[in-house]
Amino acid sequence: MSKEALLKLENKELTLPVIVSSENERAVDIRALRKETGYITYDEGYGNTGSCQSSITFVDGENGILRYRGYPIEQLAENSDFVETAYLIIYGELPTKEQRKKFRELLSEHAFIHERMVYLFENYPRDAHPMAILGAMMSALGCYYPTLATNDSKLDLENFDDAAATALSKIRTIAAMTYRMSRGLPIIYPKRDLGYCENFLHMMFSEPYDLYECPPIVAKALNMILLLHADHEQNCSTSTVRMVASSGANLFASAAAGICALWGPLHGGANMAVIKMLTDIHESGDDGSKFIEAAKTGKARLMGFGHRVYKNFDPRAKIIGRLADQLLDALGIDDPLLDIARKLADTALKEDYFIERKLYPNVDFYSGIIMRAIGIPLNMFTVMFAIGRMPGWIANWHEVASNPKGRIYRPRQIYTGPTTRDYVPIDQRG
Ligand code: ACO
Repeated sequence: MSKEALLKLENKELTLPVIVSSENERAVDIRALRKETGYITYDEGYGNTGSCQSSITFVDGENGILRYRGYPIEQLAENSDFVETAYLIIYGELPTKEQRKKFRELLSEHAFIHERMVYLFENYPRDAHPMAILGAMMSALGCYYPTLATNDSKLDLENFDDAAATALSKIRTIAAMTYRMSRGLPIIYPKRDLGYCENFLHMMFSEPYDLYECPPIVAKALNMILLLHADHEQNCSTSTVRMVASSGANLFASAAAGICALWGPLHGGANMAVIKMLTDIHESGDDGSKFIEAAKTGKARLMGFGHRVYKNFDPRAKIIGRLADQLLDALGIDDPLLDIARKLADTALKEDYFIERKLYPNVDFYSGIIMRAIGIPLNMFTVMFAIGRMPGWIANWHEVASNPKGRIYRPRQIYTGPTTRDYVPIDQRG
């Protein structure tokens, strides 16, 4: 196979190296392009652009493959849990028993937030969106734990274990507190003896006079949702984290930017949008057929369908679809939205419009149904995604911060505005 590409531009020929990934993907290395030719490349949306080299997650969208550090998502979903998978993503290897114990202890140690941070919650409006609060609070961690957020990469890397555990553990505490405050409920502090997911549900649903007892199937379902969201290579929010990290910014600042990027409905906000769509369909008396017709004519978008990378199926959607059935069965819930979701998926997968465009259910098509069954309110869905994605953001931040040859991320543009013109004083403007 050729390790070079030949580019002919005007009268000049340029030989460009080809980089081959450990999974045999090929990329034309254009780093010398502008210097040698004056040209840049144009790739709005970055669909053809490798922005970095990374050893964390592999996605093969054509074949529906997702692997964290080489391990297939199906094996991790079957055998692992969120905390162990988070360790794998952050540190590159599955933990030994001793490493797993220490990691769990570190997460317990960092579960509490600074007491003064608790007062911050009181000043947000009651109806503030939980993602707005989460982003602000993640950034605020830098104020309360300044030794972990110095913006001196060497120092920040020296304290990486604590910073990573702080981000991963406290995002869960902050998320639960956001929910409690929005409902006017007393804050429930984390318990040291509970697992990651059980502890989150305890902080969400326990009352001072009544402890929440977590059914094992619920803990399993939450573990699965978080694990399936834990990383997904260079998606919008992770690229944002890397972009911010490339300037030398600390982990909390970079993760806060990731949270903001995740919020939009085309990314993490899709799980909320799916439930809104299913509810609207249900309330209108449609079984999904009319909506599919509207989607085919561009009048509606089938939320939870389609993916920039997966063009065959999203392996996470397969796992989560089965889990939705198991959970609802076990809890004895009959959710009409699940029936509509199934009908939409079955119909869409037979329609030329969706087949031709390679549109399949993505991970968020069913995740909202599971979260509803657990009792998570709709406006917290994207927050759940953020908790799940935290290991990926941490690992990507670390990859950028520890790269000795790293450069600041700074794309170019094709300028389309006016060419030079002279300033016009205000009284002469028409
Ligand atoms: N419903 C109907 N039509 C769709 C959908 C959809 N969900 N998604 C894409 N299309 C159509 C587009 O209209 C376009 O049609 P055209 O070629 O006739 O113009 C074609 O399929 C290609 O779509 P693009 O928007 O160019 O695909 P892109 O890769 O830019 O977008 C995205 C991917 C954002 C995920 C898109 O499929 C979408 O909006 N899906 C719904 C939102 C969603 O579920 N997002 C979650 C993504 S997964 C995640 O973040 C975990």
